[in-house]
Amino acid sequence: MKAAILVESLTGNTWRAAEKTADLLAQERWSITGLSKVREPDLTSIQEADLILVGTWVHGAFVFGQAPWAVNNISNLPALSGKKAAAFCTFALSPGSSLDRLTRAVGDTGAYVIGGLAMSRSKLDQHSEEFATRLVDALADA
Ligand SMILES: Cc1cc2nc3c(=O)[nH]c(=O)nc-3n(C[C@H](O)[C@H](O)[C@H](O)COP(=O)(O)O)c2cc1C
Repeated sequence: MKAAILVESLTGNTWRAAEKTADLLAQERWSITGLSKVREPDLTSIQEADLILVGTWVHGAFVFGQAPWAVNNISNLPALSGKKAAAFCTFALSPGSSLDRLTRAVGDTGAYVIGGLAMSRSKLDQHSEEFATRLVDALADA
Protein backbone atom coordinates (compact mmCIF):
# COMPACT_ATOMS: atom_id res chain seq x y z
CA MET A 1 0.00 0.00 0.00
CA LYS A 2 1.24 3.48 -0.84
CA ALA A 3 0.17 6.39 1.37
CA ALA A 4 0.64 10.15 1.13
CA ILE A 5 0.19 12.27 4.26
CA LEU A 6 -1.06 15.87 4.33
CA VAL A 7 -0.96 17.85 7.56
CA GLU A 8 -1.90 21.18 9.12
CA SER A 9 0.10 21.76 12.32
CA LEU A 10 0.70 24.88 14.40
CA THR A 11 2.82 23.61 17.28
CA GLY A 12 4.00 20.29 15.88
CA ASN A 13 1.71 17.70 17.51
CA THR A 14 -0.18 16.79 14.35
CA TRP A 15 3.06 16.66 12.38
CA ARG A 16 4.53 14.33 15.03
CA ALA A 17 1.42 12.13 14.92
CA ALA A 18 1.84 11.95 11.14
CA GLU A 19 5.51 10.97 11.45
CA LYS A 20 4.77 8.32 14.06
CA THR A 21 1.94 6.88 11.96
CA ALA A 22 4.19 6.92 8.88
CA ASP A 23 6.94 5.04 10.74
CA LEU A 24 4.49 2.41 11.95
CA LEU A 25 3.03 1.95 8.46
CA ALA A 26 6.53 1.68 7.00
CA GLN A 27 7.23 -1.11 9.51
CA GLU A 28 4.24 -2.89 7.96
CA ARG A 29 5.97 -2.52 4.55
CA TRP A 30 3.79 0.34 3.40
CA SER A 31 5.48 2.92 1.24
CA ILE A 32 5.02 6.55 2.32
CA THR A 33 5.10 8.64 -0.86
CA GLY A 34 5.39 11.95 1.00
CA LEU A 35 4.54 14.03 4.07
CA SER A 36 3.60 17.60 3.21
CA LYS A 37 1.42 20.50 4.31
CA VAL A 38 -2.23 20.67 3.27
CA ARG A 39 -1.49 24.23 2.11
CA GLU A 40 1.53 23.18 0.05
CA PRO A 41 0.67 19.62 -0.93
CA ASP A 42 3.27 17.48 -2.62
CA LEU A 43 1.21 16.66 -5.70
CA THR A 44 3.49 13.87 -6.88
CA SER A 45 3.12 12.09 -3.56
CA ILE A 46 -0.67 12.31 -3.89
CA GLN A 47 -0.61 10.98 -7.44
CA GLU A 48 1.55 8.01 -6.45
CA ALA A 49 -0.54 7.05 -3.41
CA ASP A 50 -3.51 4.70 -3.06
CA LEU A 51 -4.43 6.18 0.32
CA ILE A 52 -4.28 9.83 1.43
CA LEU A 53 -4.10 10.61 5.16
CA VAL A 54 -5.25 14.11 6.07
CA GLY A 55 -4.53 15.49 9.55
CA THR A 56 -5.19 18.76 11.33
CA TRP A 57 -5.65 20.10 14.84
CA VAL A 58 -8.71 21.05 16.82
CA HIS A 59 -9.40 24.75 17.28
CA GLY A 60 -12.14 26.22 19.45
CA ALA A 61 -12.99 27.23 23.00
CA PHE A 62 -11.73 23.86 24.30
CA VAL A 63 -15.11 22.55 25.47
CA PHE A 64 -17.37 24.07 22.82
CA GLY A 65 -17.13 25.45 19.29
CA GLN A 66 -14.42 22.96 18.32
CA ALA A 67 -13.60 22.66 14.62
CA PRO A 68 -10.81 21.21 12.53
CA TRP A 69 -8.34 23.98 11.76
CA ALA A 70 -8.10 25.24 8.17
CA VAL A 71 -10.71 22.83 6.91
CA ASN A 72 -11.15 25.14 3.90
CA ASN A 73 -7.63 24.32 2.76
CA ILE A 74 -8.77 20.75 2.28
CA SER A 75 -11.29 21.85 -0.33
CA ASN A 76 -8.38 23.42 -2.25
CA LEU A 77 -6.69 20.05 -2.63
CA PRO A 78 -6.74 18.50 -6.08
CA ALA A 79 -9.66 16.13 -6.69
CA LEU A 80 -8.97 12.88 -4.89
CA SER A 81 -11.51 10.79 -6.81
CA GLY A 82 -10.40 7.19 -7.05
CA LYS A 83 -8.24 7.49 -3.93
CA LYS A 84 -8.98 6.12 -0.52
CA ALA A 85 -8.49 8.52 2.39
CA ALA A 86 -8.45 8.63 6.18
CA ALA A 87 -8.66 11.64 8.48
CA PHE A 88 -7.06 12.40 11.84
CA CYS A 89 -6.95 15.34 14.21
CA THR A 90 -5.08 16.08 17.41
CA PHE A 91 -6.70 17.83 20.37
CA ALA A 92 -6.06 18.81 24.00
CA LEU A 93 -9.33 18.35 25.89
CA SER A 94 -12.16 17.41 23.57
CA PRO A 95 -12.42 17.23 19.79
CA GLY A 96 -16.21 17.81 19.71
CA SER A 97 -17.41 16.95 16.22
CA SER A 98 -14.12 17.94 14.56
CA LEU A 99 -13.41 14.47 13.20
CA ASP A 100 -16.85 14.26 11.55
CA ARG A 101 -16.36 17.69 9.97
CA LEU A 102 -12.88 16.78 8.81
CA THR A 103 -14.14 13.49 7.40
CA ARG A 104 -16.87 15.31 5.46
CA ALA A 105 -14.34 17.82 4.06
CA VAL A 106 -12.03 15.02 2.92
CA GLY A 107 -14.99 13.14 1.41
CA ASP A 108 -15.98 16.29 -0.49
CA THR A 109 -12.70 16.06 -2.43
CA GLY A 110 -14.08 12.90 -4.03
CA ALA A 111 -11.98 10.50 -1.97
CA TYR A 112 -13.54 7.40 -0.41
CA VAL A 113 -12.99 7.91 3.32
CA ILE A 114 -12.33 4.63 5.09
CA GLY A 115 -12.14 6.04 8.61
CA GLY A 116 -10.38 8.37 10.98
CA LEU A 117 -9.23 9.02 14.51
CA ALA A 118 -9.16 11.94 16.95
CA MET A 119 -5.85 11.70 18.83
CA SER A 120 -5.21 13.21 22.24
CA ARG A 121 -2.00 15.26 22.18
CA SER A 122 -1.05 13.62 25.50
CA LYS A 123 -1.34 10.13 23.98
CA LEU A 124 0.24 10.58 20.57
CA ASP A 125 2.24 7.33 20.74
CA GLN A 126 -0.75 5.23 21.74
CA HIS A 127 -3.16 6.89 19.33
CA SER A 128 -0.75 6.82 16.38
CA GLU A 129 -0.36 3.12 16.97
CA GLU A 130 -4.13 2.65 17.10
CA PHE A 131 -4.54 4.64 13.87
CA ALA A 132 -1.84 2.70 12.02
CA THR A 133 -3.24 -0.64 13.21
CA ARG A 134 -6.74 0.30 12.08
CA LEU A 135 -5.46 1.36 8.66
CA VAL A 136 -3.48 -1.82 8.17
CA ASP A 137 -6.46 -3.95 9.23
CA ALA A 138 -8.90 -2.00 7.05
CA LEU A 139 -6.73 -2.37 3.96
CA ALA A 140 -5.42 -5.89 4.58
CA ASP A 141 -7.71 -7.37 1.92
CA ALA A 142 -7.66 -4.41 -0.47
C1 LIG B 1 -5.88 28.69 19.56
C2 LIG B 1 -6.04 27.27 19.97
C3 LIG B 1 -7.30 26.75 20.20
C4 LIG B 1 -7.45 25.42 20.61
N1 LIG B 1 -8.70 24.94 20.83
C5 LIG B 1 -8.87 23.67 21.28
C6 LIG B 1 -10.17 23.15 21.54
O1 LIG B 1 -11.18 23.82 21.39
N2 LIG B 1 -10.28 21.87 22.00
C7 LIG B 1 -9.18 21.08 22.20
O2 LIG B 1 -9.34 19.93 22.61
N3 LIG B 1 -7.93 21.53 21.92
C8 LIG B 1 -7.75 22.80 21.47
N4 LIG B 1 -6.49 23.28 21.21
C9 LIG B 1 -5.33 22.38 21.39
C10 LIG B 1 -4.83 21.82 20.07
O3 LIG B 1 -5.87 21.22 19.32
C11 LIG B 1 -3.76 20.76 20.33
O4 LIG B 1 -2.71 21.28 21.11
C12 LIG B 1 -3.24 20.21 19.03
O5 LIG B 1 -2.51 19.04 19.30
C13 LIG B 1 -2.34 21.21 18.31
O6 LIG B 1 -1.83 20.60 17.16
P1 LIG B 1 -0.49 21.13 16.49
O7 LIG B 1 0.61 21.00 17.52
O8 LIG B 1 -0.28 20.22 15.32
O9 LIG B 1 -0.71 22.54 16.08
C14 LIG B 1 -6.32 24.59 20.79
C15 LIG B 1 -5.04 25.10 20.55
C16 LIG B 1 -4.91 26.43 20.14
C17 LIG B 1 -3.52 26.97 19.87
